[in-house]
Amino acid sequence: MKKIGIIGAMDIEVKLLLDNMKSLRKEKTGGFLYYTGELCGKDVVITSCGVGKVNAASCTQTLINKFRVDGIINTGIAGGLHEDVEVCDVVISSNVTHHDVRKKQMKNWFPHQEYFEGDRKLIEAAERAFKSSNVIGSSCHLGRIVSGECFVDDTQLKEQIMKEYSPHCVEMEGAAIGHVAHINEIPFVVIRSISDKADGEATMSYKKFEQITAQNAATIVMNMMKVL
Ligand code: ADE
Repeated sequence: MKKIGIIGAMDIEVKLLLDNMKSLRKEKTGGFLYYTGELCGKDVVITSCGVGKVNAASCTQTLINKFRVDGIINTGIAGGLHEDVEVCDVVISSNVTHHDVRKKQMKNWFPHQEYFEGDRKLIEAAERAFKSSNVIGSSCHLGRIVSGECFVDDTQLKEQIMKEYSPHCVEMEGAAIGHVAHINEIPFVVIRSISDKADGEATMSYKKFEQITAQNAATIVMNMMKVL
């Protein structure tokens, strides 16, 4: 991969990356800021798309059409769903899907996919990068990441999503990024560190852990640049 697009939803999720970027150029397109330059010797374009799937989809398409990236990494934080996933752990997407779009709609209508597969090479690079990163978090998991247009902080909704999708974690952008990348035949992976357990305590836990977990995921992305 020659040029990699890196998307975080919030500034805090890309700060570490921007702080470490060389020959940085800034450009505004469609309301979003795109930073072009070098990260650990690799050509990258970094952006923060804001929260939610429409923002994420728009940003992804611009990275592809305007900035001509040939791989996409989504970095950030998420709510843990799987019983093995603890706060500060890292989840790498085996695949992504929308938890708020019916499976039938996904299958019956373009692009006729119930989920979008993460790219094998990017997944392997993320796994290697985790091993060489000193992230504050005990484990790294490979699993499904689901996205929807809400912050999940309710045990009933959490259980419903777990029952229907068997995911490792939930956030609000990854499936849109994977969806747009798939349509354009661009490889992608989502890397998230767990800020909360998507339950009644989620908001408090999120506030406490957002900084450290955003940094966990970004550290892995940075180390990926060295192995890609
Ligand atoms: N991002 C981080 N935690 C989340 C949650 N509980 N629900 C949705 N997105 C999140």
